Order: sequence, then C-alpha cells, then structure tokens
Amino acid sequence: MEHLVIEGGRRLEGKVAIDGAKNAALPACVASLLTDEPLILHHIPDLRDVTTVLATVSSLGKRVIPRGETVEIARERPLVEKPEARYVEQMRASFLVLGPLLARLGRAIVPLPGGCTIGRRPVDFHLQGLQAMGARVEEATDAVSLRAEKIRGAEIELPYPSVGATEHLIMTAALAEGETRIKNPAREPEVMDLIELLRKMGAEIEVETHAIRVAGKDRLRGAEHTIIPDRLEAGTYLLAGAITGGDVAVHRVVPEHLRAFLDVLREAGLSFSAGDDWVRLSGASRPGPVRVVTAPYPGFPTDLQPPLVAALSLGRGESRIDEKVFDRRFDYVPSLNRMGARIEIRGDTLEIRGVAALTGTTVAAPDIRAGAALVLAGLAARGRTTVYQMEKIERGYSAMDEKLRVLGGQVERSA
Ligand code: UD1
Repeated sequence: MEHLVIEGGRRLEGKVAIDGAKNAALPACVASLLTDEPLILHHIPDLRDVTTVLATVSSLGKRVIPRGETVEIARERPLVEKPEARYVEQMRASFLVLGPLLARLGRAIVPLPGGCTIGRRPVDFHLQGLQAMGARVEEATDAVSLRAEKIRGAEIELPYPSVGATEHLIMTAALAEGETRIKNPAREPEVMDLIELLRKMGAEIEVETHAIRVAGKDRLRGAEHTIIPDRLEAGTYLLAGAITGGDVAVHRVVPEHLRAFLDVLREAGLSFSAGDDWVRLSGASRPGPVRVVTAPYPGFPTDLQPPLVAALSLGRGESRIDEKVFDRRFDYVPSLNRMGARIEIRGDTLEIRGVAALTGTTVAAPDIRAGAALVLAGLAARGRTTVYQMEKIERGYSAMDEKLRVLGGQVERSA
C-alpha cells in the first residue's frame, strides 16, 4: 500500500503552482461525448480521477490523445451506450455520461456510481431531472438504464444546488429539443467553467439570478478550452503553510474563487496578500477561534472543511464547524484526535478545542480531502506520521509529496 512518511515540525515556505481544477476537468472530459468533433482541453491535472474519466470516455468510443497538460478527445468509433462498469464504480463523476449518452443515442446504461464514501451521495436529482426531460428510467439494483426517443427541454427545480446534477442536466439540455430552465442550480466556479466550454461548443446558456437557462441545439461542435485553477488544491497548500507557521504562496489561482475561504482565514487572524493570480499567507500564527458553516458556492466549500479543521485543531480557543453539505464527512476526526487534537463530533457539528501540539502516529486516508487533512496534521505534528492509502489522496492532488518537499516539508513516499 502506498504511504507517505512525514517528519513533522518543518516550517513550509515558498511557492506552489496550482494545477487545473479536478472538478472542472472531469465534466469537461465528459462534455466530449456531446460532439463528434475534437475537444482540446488545456491545464488538465495529472490525477487518477482524470485518468479514470478519460478511460470512461474512451470505453464509449472516444480517442484520447494526452500531450502533457493538454488532452485532445476525438471521435474514434460510434458511441456506445454503456461505459465499462469498473470506471464508473471507481468514481462518481463518471455517472455524468448518462445524460449525454441518452441525448445522443436515445439509450444509456450506467452502473450506479462509486467515488468517495462521504455521506450517502444519492443520484436522485440527476434521475428526476432526466425524467423531466423525457427519459424513462428502468432502475436496476446495480445499474441505471434509461431510454428516451427524444430529450425535451423542461422546467426543473433542484431540491438542493447539487454540483453534479446541475452539470449533468446542463450538458443534457444542451442537446435537448427546446428550452430547459434549471432552478436552484449550483454556481460553483467549476459549473461556470463547464458552461464556458459548452458555449464554445455552440451551446446557448444563460445564467440568471436563480436559474440557468439552456436553449437546446441539434448538434454541438469541437472547441479548445483552458480549465480553471483548482481552488481546493490552492486552499490546501495555503493551510499547509498556516499549520506549520510558515509562508506559502499559491500561484496560477483565481483569488476570487477562494473568497469565502480567505474570509475565514482573515477572521482566524491569519494575514495574507493577494494579486491577480496569486495568494500568499505569511507571518502565520495560531488561528482561531472561528465559526464556519459549509455551504454551496459562494459559501465555504465542504472540500476545504477537513484541511481547515486540521489547522484549527492547533488553533487558539474553541472553533465550531457546521457541515451542511454532506453527511458523515468527519471520518478523519478520530485520527486527528489520536494525534492529540481535541475535537468533538455532535451530529453535523464539530467542536474543536485548539491544542498546543499534535504528535505523529500512523493513520489512513479515508478519502481525498480527509486524507489531505491528515497530511497537514502530520506536517505540524511532533515526530513521524505515516499516512496510508495515499492513492485516495492522489485522486485529487498531483505529486503532493514533491510539492511539499519543494516547500521544505520532510516527506517521503513509499510503496
Ligand atoms: C461535487 C464535487 C465534490 C464536492 C461537492 C460539493 C465533483 C467531481 N465533486 O460533488 O468535490 O464536495 O460537489 O461541493 O465536482 N445530493 C442528493 N441527490 C443528488 C445529488 C446530490 O441528495 O442527486 C446531495 C448530496 O448527497 C450532498 C449534496 O446534495 O449532500 C451536494 O452534493 P453534490 O453537489 O451533488 O456533490 P457532487 O456533485 O457529487
């Protein structure tokens, strides 16, 4: 099993160039299914999840030509209606192929999705939306099969602004007959990036105050697009600086996308500066106390909740976090407590009493972001921390060990 061995207590200092956003790259790769013409995507991060989505689209008939940070996705053979199960089982985002396949072929069969085991993560909003657009759902136990003679535009109100459901329905609506209006949509920067790509492909999409309107087209064309920077990777490295009392700058970012996160750091008494495409956290002191509620964008991102909690565990006073996006997103908390943190779980709330020091131990990464939180704790802890199941973290962070070493962290990866 791959693991990371961290000798804690080094101050991290320096610059990190941030990759393209995983959560924008995944739907962009799926969008290739909407056209027979080539898509050229730049700033694609080198991540397992991206490899999985590319394998998914290639199992459906696409030819994938990677060139460094760029990938070209072109037509290889006619699309088929069913991706290989093993890809979808590995990653929830592969489920997004369902609507595009349905719009192009009138039929699609997709296994029920896997991915991180955070909360229940159902797909009911996706299916209800597709049904509103004319799909007949034949649900089986381990796969969803859908048929539609024609996908038609519809009025859809999402019960919650789900990122995946919004992306799924926008992509499907782009090839529907007539107009679709999605009320209560997600507005994450990654959703906006997908909209920009789809517009380049010829889609007609309008973002209104409380809805997204899509005028369906008969066909879409190829396009070239650069993926936005990964705000979650950026936030994680800034917190790596904060938790070690260091001085870390993240480059190639959109500071505006980090606004809610930076507001919390400011409230916690940390000082930072920002330019057009960088943010630097310097002169870090022990953070806190703060109260944070995770929420859809522009609120505080749930994916930065675990890394923030790691930093607050070494903060001053008592902080409180309400996790309102996912159930059970606290799997990493018992591990932090074994390292000496004092965090109590009360339903979907965490009460964090800052401690002066953590002590290294052996832990396992429960998922991408929870794993990142444990790595941060290890960087600050006394002695050695071994983080098992690095492969889970690497679904969302490329070359984390190398990047941390460049910042002065003493980390070694071994198999
Ligand atoms: C995306 C991100 C993930 C992030 C999450 C919330 C990707 C690949 N992943 O995940 O990193 O943590 O947004 O910002 O972009 N829900 C339902 N029914 C549904 C769909 C969602 O009840 O059909 C619920 C979920 O269980 C969850 C909430 O809605 O409680 C938000 O989930 P959603 O926004 O859909 O997350 P993902 O798109 O899976």
